[in-house]
Amino acid sequence: MNIQHFQKNLITWYKNKGRDLPWRHTKDPYAIWVSEIMLQQTQVDTVKPYYVRFLETLPDIKSLALADDDLVFKLWEGLGYYRRVRHMKEAAQTIIENYDGHFPDTYDQIIKLKGIGNYTASAISSIAFGQEKGVIDGNTLRILSRIYNRQDNIALEKTKKNYQILMDELIHGCDPSLFNQAMMDLGAMICTPKHPDCTNCPVQNLCEAYRADTTAILPVKIKNTSKSDIYYITAILKKGDKYFLIKNEEGLLQNLYGFVQYEVESPISFEEHFYDQYGLSVRLCEYIKEIKHVFSHRIWHMSVYLGEITDPEEKILSENYTLYSQDELTLLPISTAHRKAIGAAGAIGDGVCGFS
Ligand code: ADE
Repeated sequence: MNIQHFQKNLITWYKNKGRDLPWRHTKDPYAIWVSEIMLQQTQVDTVKPYYVRFLETLPDIKSLALADDDLVFKLWEGLGYYRRVRHMKEAAQTIIENYDGHFPDTYDQIIKLKGIGNYTASAISSIAFGQEKGVIDGNTLRILSRIYNRQDNIALEKTKKNYQILMDELIHGCDPSLFNQAMMDLGAMICTPKHPDCTNCPVQNLCEAYRADTTAILPVKIKNTSKSDIYYITAILKKGDKYFLIKNEEGLLQNLYGFVQYEVESPISFEEHFYDQYGLSVRLCEYIKEIKHVFSHRIWHMSVYLGEITDPEEKILSENYTLYSQDELTLLPISTAHRKAIGAAGAIGDGVCGFS
């Protein structure tokens, strides 16, 4: 493999045909960090408006470190994987305390920040600070498998380690920011999982898999994934025209607000659990529908019900629970799963047990 040849073909292609993305117009490490965290588990097209809004609202490390939690989660609402933004805020506070508010400029320091793993540390240190750290993810593993025509199982850590060495060799001596972003675009636009566009590939003449006609069977990825199914009764509870929601203090959706849900098999059992937990009487009055929401390792099956709290409002408030109006509901950070439940109830719940 002629490394200089590979770099030159790839980077020339990227300069002409690469994607124009909002975070590619800056060298501000904070902005690049925000983009990379959003892109960890979310598609480019979804991220774009979130990225712009986040930076308009919280333009620097200090504003994030000092921001109100509800605002930060509201800016993230709908992106999912909310742990990412919680960790970002913590990391922003660390940067203020340990680095005098300046984003650390080496891979080794960056990877120590909360919520930053190998990929993100490589991306930030190469794009913002020019460090020669190749990014390893599904896209680049696929490209390397094909370029070198290797059948190593890319789901294995051992393969990722070996391919990191290959990537760091390939990035050496050129502009690391351009190289990594060009590899990302090659993976997204040309060297796709299915039907790669080899005709338009800038490194086709260096690709061993193209020569051996094996692109269609590469990469080898044998993964043992088992998502667990969880079955909930989820209740949209109201008192008059106000909703009962709780803030999740821990778990998958920590810091987001949501409706109460239990892994129970009947509405009566829900009502008993609710009474045990909150000391309030409820009546589930209407079944809406089942909503399925898929997380990375989990699937929620929510049987959504409408219900009412039958105790007086004073009792609810005296127990220190908050009720939220329809308008307040739109302002609260709520998980996508529960926004889907609100959508379903809004469409069906008109006039049912006081719902309007
Ligand atoms: N995926 C992860 N990081 C990215 C970036 N900087 N540009 C495009 N896609 C990405």
